[in-house]
Amino acid sequence: MNLENVLYEVDGGVAFVTVNRPDKMNALNHQTLTELGQAFDAAKADGAVRAVVVTGSGEKAFVAGADIGELLQVAGNAQGAADLAGFGQSIFRKLEDLGKPSVAMVNGFALGGGCELALACTLRTASTSARMGLPEVSLGIIPGYGGSQRLARIASPGVAREWILTGDMFGAEDAHRVGVINRIFAPEELREGTLKMVGSMLAKGPVALRFGMEAVLRGWDMTQPEGEAMETEYFGKASETEDMKEGMSAFLEKRRPEFKGC
Ligand code: COA
Repeated sequence: MNLENVLYEVDGGVAFVTVNRPDKMNALNHQTLTELGQAFDAAKADGAVRAVVVTGSGEKAFVAGADIGELLQVAGNAQGAADLAGFGQSIFRKLEDLGKPSVAMVNGFALGGGCELALACTLRTASTSARMGLPEVSLGIIPGYGGSQRLARIASPGVAREWILTGDMFGAEDAHRVGVINRIFAPEELREGTLKMVGSMLAKGPVALRFGMEAVLRGWDMTQPEGEAMETEYFGKASETEDMKEGMSAFLEKRRPEFKGC
């Protein structure tokens, strides 16, 4: 991979994907989105990667949004703007389709497209100094990378309306209170705390993790009975794995399970 604006590093089963334009607050231009797509594809294809952590370079920003200079180029061009939104959405959807958990480690400003990138991850951690929001209305637009849909589902339609319509920035505590952020840490403990959370997932059976993620994600758009039928299917499929036998035997034998992912 020939990446300029994204750093990609695999360590201990975790792929670290870092947006690396700190002088531009890690804003997402077309090249950076393309490179993110390449990094997510690589993480999906690599069997040694069991989880992905997405973060931003530097002290100040996770990602401060889509690149506003590029956005201006599609002003007055509805098709061009729709294509741009569709492109960003397709990149972020790769995160949901990884088949392994992803965690946004929000280390500073996560605004607009940056907030939407975090929302596309399976889980989110943040430093107490992080600031999040969807300020697109301040620029005369609305979120275009899936944020209006994911925020309404992850938090609530009421929270999505508040964030999208006011364009206000929210601190990590506020984002945690409404369920956008799963865990918050002091800035110097963010990495360690995030890796601890990732570690507790890595100790579990990969197939069970994938089924659990898919059950929640697919259930978003289902009625309760439809969702329960789908859950039953996954439950049945999980029971066919070697990992089920291993997990239960290990419990009864009072030892740590050794999951094989099959
Ligand atoms: N797109 C393009 N460039 C951006 C950017 C974005 N979304 N966010 C920040 N930058 C650039 C700035 O233009 C500036 O570039 P310059 O040094 O060449 O002038 C550089 O990053 C530093 O940003 P600056 O605004 O000077 O830093 P700050 O600490 O004063 O403010 C923010 C930080 C994040 C509050 C502010 O940059 C901001 O509001 N950014 C836009 C957020 C936004 O509206 N995002 C949604 C886009 S859809």
